[in-house]
Amino acid sequence: MTSLNVPVLTLDGPSGSGKGTVGQFCAQRLGWHYLDSGALYRALAYTVDRSGIDIDDLEAVLCVAKKMQFECRPSPPEPAEIVVNGDNVGNEVRNEGVGETASLLAQKPEVRAVLLDLQREARRPPGLVADGRDMGTVVFPEADLKIFLTASVEERAQRRYNQLKLKGFNGSLADLFQAIQERDARDVERTTSPLVAAEDAVTIDSTNLTIDEVVTRVLDLVLNQLDIAGIDTTERETGLT
Ligand code: C5P
Repeated sequence: MTSLNVPVLTLDGPSGSGKGTVGQFCAQRLGWHYLDSGALYRALAYTVDRSGIDIDDLEAVLCVAKKMQFECRPSPPEPAEIVVNGDNVGNEVRNEGVGETASLLAQKPEVRAVLLDLQREARRPPGLVADGRDMGTVVFPEADLKIFLTASVEERAQRRYNQLKLKGFNGSLADLFQAIQERDARDVERTTSPLVAAEDAVTIDSTNLTIDEVVTRVLDLVLNQLDIAGIDTTERETGLT
């Protein structure tokens, strides 16, 4: 089986749309691999920062990116475990500072080009669920099913605030709202791989949906679109809203 015969489900959308949690549950139900491509950009940001490299020193950044060993292990409902160069750095990569640097590095076409190969290597049998910003448009344009997951900025800021609060974050909701708006603008306006729904993507607005409802909708679409037997989409026990 060449990697192009391996089925792929892509989930693209802005920060906080729920694609990470939904993607992990879908991968688990399907028994497929899972790629959190945002975590890959975050992993690079974290490694660059730890190495004391200036993010504008493109040559040094690319050198780190080319050598980076990245692994993504789903653990829903928690965010996926992220192993970089052998170290589990899931917690470290998911803070606002690293997210900000990741967003800036993601503007650079040369960085995106290097990370493209790493992302495509994640396509292994029996299948892949890939979440990010350009999974359906650039990384896996021939994906079997493409979902574009959105939610209002207010709802996404509130979700992020609730998540960070559990980890002891004491910043304000208003600041998060503004940071999300700025990050959205950078993702949408950049010239290389901007955040946009693929023409053949199915859009789901998760503002008023629970995680369970979104997972069920996505898996129903997978079953309708792909010839996969043995997946029961009715039984949901994520316990998440
Ligand atoms: O999804 P997450 O917030 O973890 O992603 C971190 C940053 O990486 C985003 O702000 C976005 O700019 C960038 N990113 C990207 N393309 C992807 C995934 C993430 O540009 N496929």
